[in-house]
Amino acid sequence: MYEKGTSVMWTDPYISERLLELHLNPNNDMASRSRAKIELIINWILCQTDNVKLNILDLGCGPGLYAEQLAKQGHAVTGVDFSENSIRYASEQAKYKKLDIKYLHQNYLDIDFVDYFDLVILIYLDFCVLLPEERDRVLENIFKALKKNRIFICDVVNEVNIDKKIIPQSWEVQQSGFWRNSPYIALNNGYHYPDAKVFANHHIVVQENDAVDTYIFWNHYYNDEALADIMKAKGFYDIRTYKNVLPNGNDFWSGENITFCVSKKK
Ligand SMILES: C[S@@+](CC[C@H](N)C(=O)[O-])C[C@H]1O[C@@H](n2cnc3c(N)ncnc32)[C@H](O)[C@@H]1O
Repeated sequence: MYEKGTSVMWTDPYISERLLELHLNPNNDMASRSRAKIELIINWILCQTDNVKLNILDLGCGPGLYAEQLAKQGHAVTGVDFSENSIRYASEQAKYKKLDIKYLHQNYLDIDFVDYFDLVILIYLDFCVLLPEERDRVLENIFKALKKNRIFICDVVNEVNIDKKIIPQSWEVQQSGFWRNSPYIALNNGYHYPDAKVFANHHIVVQENDAVDTYIFWNHYYNDEALADIMKAKGFYDIRTYKNVLPNGNDFWSGENITFCVSKKK
């Protein structure tokens, strides 16, 4: 459990260029959700607030798809991401569109704000990939960053259709593709640890020179009780969980398959 890969996908210069292309494709759900889903989520998020001018912190903001829409609706937004490519793109866009967004190229495990934000969001299942000690640290930092009685929102993988959420064993041969700009074989497999409610998606990338890199993505899944316990233990209250914020689709990453969690700082 919790074995680390040899490499990190988000910050690799070549892969993060591919990821940026995926983020910016409005029609797929690969790195960010489709624009239609993002619009639904933003409207839903703002309905959880009083929607007067908010100070918003978007953790793992990627290229700023949420941050921009929130800023256009009159909110002051700070976006944090450790992908240099995404932050560079997001910053250029904000400057060009004259939006009130501050982007920080930073690991969100290290944020250090005090009593400043009305709303903190961590969207697209990032909460699930945090190992327990990282999750504790992020929640403590979010708690500190929020003003009293203000709101934290995240979305998580839940137990519904859990077996369908774990990647099946597969392999692919590419001359050039998502993982490398040169020939490689990718061996993919998912492993489930039901007692710990966690699964790991492994991708082993083998290149022509026999270099082998492994990417391992640990994903926790949560039921409502577990989420409430975790949030309460960190001092949050009024914890609410919602399924079907997004309509059910042909995938296992929307509708009843995902839970959104809203909680407040005591
Ligand atoms: C699945 S994407 C979601 C992006 C964005 N929230 C969205 O939905 O469009 C996850 C993002 O979190 C960023 N990320 C992952 N771990 C991070 C960390 N520890 N610190 C900062 N950014 C991180 C990645 O670079 C990536 O942009």
